[in-house]
Amino acid sequence: MRWSETKDKSNIVFHRKKVTVVGAGNVGATAAFLLAQKELANIVMIDVMDGVPQGKSLDMYEASPIQGFDAVVHGTQDYADTADSDLVIITAGIARKPGMSRDDLLSINVKIVAEVTKNIVHYSPDCVILVVTNPLDAMVYTALKVSRFPKQRVIGMAGVLDSARMRAFIGREMDVSIEDVTAFVLGGHGDTMVPLPRYSTVAGIPITELLSEERVQAICQRTADGGAEIVELLKTGSAFYAPGASVVAMAESILKDKKRIMPCAAFLEGEYGVDGYYMGVPCKLGGGGVESVIELDLTDDEKSQLEKSLQAVKVLMKDVDALEHF
Ligand code: LAC
Repeated sequence: MRWSETKDKSNIVFHRKKVTVVGAGNVGATAAFLLAQKELANIVMIDVMDGVPQGKSLDMYEASPIQGFDAVVHGTQDYADTADSDLVIITAGIARKPGMSRDDLLSINVKIVAEVTKNIVHYSPDCVILVVTNPLDAMVYTALKVSRFPKQRVIGMAGVLDSARMRAFIGREMDVSIEDVTAFVLGGHGDTMVPLPRYSTVAGIPITELLSEERVQAICQRTADGGAEIVELLKTGSAFYAPGASVVAMAESILKDKKRIMPCAAFLEGEYGVDGYYMGVPCKLGGGGVESVIELDLTDDEKSQLEKSLQAVKVLMKDVDALEHF
């Protein structure tokens, strides 16, 4: 018997959706492994580090008989292997090291994300791009500018992670299943993010009716400090399990056209009174990317918190514009 299917040069038959993960570090590899385990796509993992995406892909392949998945993960340094991806997840970039300012991080990662985006667009002109690299709001803006894609197809992952953290903290506080907990976090991905307790619920009941004001505030603060709390514990890096899981949840909604409502960094043109900036807002995520932005009525206090967050995001985006890498 002969197999007669057409294979590409990586010897993989691509009948599933195709997802490229750029960056084979902790976040990229975690995302790739979760995508494979859920059989959401075949995955190409690309990284400049010779052998690293290949080694991690082989390791995942060797886990597949145990975990029972048939999705393929292919490691490479060659962007040609990423051709015709449906979705591209960008995790490439450096993490902030001790003594490094946010501006140092920004200027290094802008260059990396701009270069990656150029390559991605060349080989996958119709893909949806999900950006995970920090500082998030500035990096997703970089990918939008470089790709010249419609805004619906360039999305940042932040709110799903921030609201997952909030859900976890609410679940622990109330001693209930996280399955019954929802949470909403708006704004930029940083200290100024805006957790919305009014829209955070246990089985549909707002937590403002279940917990004291003091406990609600403590949960909101821990959510805003969630990334820093992990960095402090790990000492040599930042979170990756929850960020990886978060971007895969977004990927699933896009790949399966589920149209889930998720908080995403979306490019706003008038929504929430914001024009020409990325902000974390509730979005409908489907096959076309951000299919719509949902506008909530905010209280004066929430509006002023969102305005503060917008100011922080504006500073970052102006820094990107000033770098002129495009
Ligand atoms: C975090 C960083 C990685 O929130 O953005 O964990």
